[in-house]
Amino acid sequence: MYKIVNKKQLSHDMVWFDIEAPLIAKKAKPGQFVILRTDEYGERIPLTMAGHDEEKGTITIVFQAVGKSTNIMAALEVGQGFKDVVGPLGKPTTTEGLKRVCVVGGGTGNALAYPIATGMHAAGIQVDMVMGFKNKDLVILEEEFKAGVDNLYITTDDGSYGEKGFTTDKLKQLIEDGNKYDEVIAVGPPIMMKFICAVTKNYDIKTVVSLTALMIDGTGMCGGCRVTVDGENKYVCVDGPEFDGQTVDWDEIIARNAFYFKEEEEARSHNCHIAGGVRHND
Ligand code: FES
Repeated sequence: MYKIVNKKQLSHDMVWFDIEAPLIAKKAKPGQFVILRTDEYGERIPLTMAGHDEEKGTITIVFQAVGKSTNIMAALEVGQGFKDVVGPLGKPTTTEGLKRVCVVGGGTGNALAYPIATGMHAAGIQVDMVMGFKNKDLVILEEEFKAGVDNLYITTDDGSYGEKGFTTDKLKQLIEDGNKYDEVIAVGPPIMMKFICAVTKNYDIKTVVSLTALMIDGTGMCGGCRVTVDGENKYVCVDGPEFDGQTVDWDEIIARNAFYFKEEEEARSHNCHIAGGVRHND
């Protein structure tokens, strides 16, 4: 069993776990993910690691309890754990040649952006961070980001905290104000990443996105995580999770993510697992 050694409730439905997984912690790099199962009949849940501690032998995951399986996960307490944790999977974030970046996080995507943004800052890259949430109650990791990046901007859709508006508005304003970025990194719901890419395209700024997808084996064999990038089939588990956002077929991803919505609703109401497929935590 992979034991939970620390649990934090970040908001009413967002949970932070530190999990004992020394072999994964030893090899993990920012941007990589793991696949977890609570029990042998459980869904396989792919989650980008929010951090790792080689000395303690732990990895950190942050997720939102939105479906049947993530609600089961959220009910776990310190001392309990996961039957399987597989990883680290995927390619790590690349930082070569970067001097100044803007990282944009939406919702739980902010937790996944945390090791990327702070890791880049620690490597000497100037990092502006734009965090977007629906409302004040959902704001997470504010103090942690403040300590780990150069400039932090928070937006809420309803204006209940930070600046009213969307991350796209703030990013556009920062660029229009003359801030020059070598790269923008966007992590969050596909619809947000799609529109961030639409903004940066106008200014010709390279934009890297971290994709989540339906996953089964996590090794490039099953085809479950296929996405179309630059007109070609790519697999999030082995070719990603990070891709050039300007070349991603966003409409296909958004349509596929909605595919199992009905089954998820049924699983939740009948208290059963969905066979086979998995979902992410947007
Ligand atoms: Fe099977 Fe990626 S999860 S190919």
